[in-house]
Amino acid sequence: MQDFLQQLPKVELHLHIEGTLEPELMFKLASRNGITLPYATVDEVRDAYRFDDLPGFLALYFQGMDVLRTSQDFHDLAMTYFMRAHEEGVVHLDMHFDPQAHLQRGVTLEAVMQGLLSARQEAEQSLDLTVGVIMAFLRDRPADEALAVLEQASPFWSQLDAVGLDSAENGNPPGEFASVFSRAAELGLARVAHAGEEGPADYIIEALDMLGVERVDHGVRCLEDETLVKRLSDEQTVLTVCPLSNVSLGVVKELGDHPLPAMLDAGLNVTISSDDPAYFGGGMLANHQACFEAFGWDEATFYQLTRNAIEAGFMSRDRRADLL
Ligand code: ADE
Ligand code: ZN
Repeated sequence: MQDFLQQLPKVELHLHIEGTLEPELMFKLASRNGITLPYATVDEVRDAYRFDDLPGFLALYFQGMDVLRTSQDFHDLAMTYFMRAHEEGVVHLDMHFDPQAHLQRGVTLEAVMQGLLSARQEAEQSLDLTVGVIMAFLRDRPADEALAVLEQASPFWSQLDAVGLDSAENGNPPGEFASVFSRAAELGLARVAHAGEEGPADYIIEALDMLGVERVDHGVRCLEDETLVKRLSDEQTVLTVCPLSNVSLGVVKELGDHPLPAMLDAGLNVTISSDDPAYFGGGMLANHQACFEAFGWDEATFYQLTRNAIEAGFMSRDRRADLL
């Protein structure tokens, strides 16, 4: 099974590029930018990666990304992950990034975009890896700010595939971002949102009805609402489930308690992703292996999950046909 999972051409739909920042690269970028980290060694950083819920994780995630300052930093961050993903047998990934988290620190949108887009180009030319780009908005910041960032991104609209919604979920319902998402729709961008990770099933309904999302990131709490499960199953809405993330953030106690098998039994359109691999104990391969160990899935199940992801990934028609 190990060999099968390595060789399976995997597609990752839910990945925060800032969440791929490994401590080794954090040190390299800190030194390059003359930043003193509050840690002396890589091991100290790893030891500090302790959190038991989403807000606890987000504090470390936003702190860690402070070493990202120049377009070269963003390029190196993305390229480092693309090479790792390629080695793990990933053939396509859709990457979220958080522009507001960088603008707030005085990093320009141009630096962020140039770095990420040049890495995408390099990956697509030098690796068998295609990359979709999702501009994500921070739901714990005002919707007006998100709208202004979307407008500011006009020189890059043609290079974006979608908008997303992430950060602290509880108390920040999707509906507040309806105007941002309707503007994105006007621009021809696809729409996705985190919902039903820590937040209630109602947030999934809001994301569908008020934001018009075509994919729900996480969505695991849908099982709390039978009518919603039926709707998601009837409409075959893609859910980008992140098993190791859910364990790390205490959404479930251990993987054996995860609702993934129940989600499959309910006929939901499930896919597997890593979310923030530097923080949650591994990338696509580790997530697939963990699912095998916890659920004993057979090859046919992993093929089905991969097919689900290929069909929903932000890629060209030709690329999709190649991968199917
Ligand atoms: N930003 C990065 N990772 C996230 C997650 N798992 N949930 C919400 N926002 C995030
Ligand atoms: Zn996420």
